[in-house]
Amino acid sequence: MKRREIFAGNWKMYTTLSEALALIEGIIKGLGDIANREIVVFPPAVHAREVVKACGNKIAVGLQNMYFEKEGAFTGEISPLMVKDVGARFILIGHSERRHVFGETDEMINRKIHAALDVGLEPMVCVGELISEREAGNSEKVVETQLKAALAGVARDQMNKVVIAYEPVWAIGTGKVATPEIAESMHQSIRNVLKALYGAEIATTVPVLYGGSVKPENIKGLFSQENIDGVLVGGASLTAKSFLDIIHVQ
Ligand code: PGA
Repeated sequence: MKRREIFAGNWKMYTTLSEALALIEGIIKGLGDIANREIVVFPPAVHAREVVKACGNKIAVGLQNMYFEKEGAFTGEISPLMVKDVGARFILIGHSERRHVFGETDEMINRKIHAALDVGLEPMVCVGELISEREAGNSEKVVETQLKAALAGVARDQMNKVVIAYEPVWAIGTGKVATPEIAESMHQSIRNVLKALYGAEIATTVPVLYGGSVKPENIKGLFSQENIDGVLVGGASLTAKSFLDIIHVQ
């Protein structure tokens, strides 16, 4: 079964506009032949229009967050239509920093996914357990609960627009990458949840990415796993060289 292969860079709250454009230029310069691999970057929203222009048709752009309402008196928020209008194709939803620093709940995440799909955005939905949950032996259950809550009410025919990213919270920004075995085992468990919700075909076609301290040094072991279809990279996506080294993994 050949699935989409996606290499995504989450820039978080880093880069000025000139740094962002230099980063895109560097990535495009070194991209070369990447066959069918899809490259996505998630710049800060204020740089989005210029980053979209700089990416052309080589790199897709997503934003890191949005609100679920169409419009209104929500100071500081951006709407799904604004994300679409700026030229973004993807939207990151439920990143652990949104959940744990900004208090986003499963219910908000679910509403955001519906709002994204309604305007034709492709949600990249993040799930992942805390270290305390892993140590208590609850990782699978936690991720299953997050996934079911996130996808509540999402129809089968919308699932071809959804990407899942498994990002164990203890691995994000810590340098403690999950072993390929730990990641693969969770990816299998995610496919089992998708199978229970949507059937075997969708469970085998939805791309499931790994994220959390992905680096050029550890990408090979992760990407060689059968159920890992790509990665969501934070820190190592902020320099063209390390992001390219990850993208070019054999
Ligand atoms: P990291 O971040 O690669 O810096 O651990 C990953 C993420 O938060 O998506």
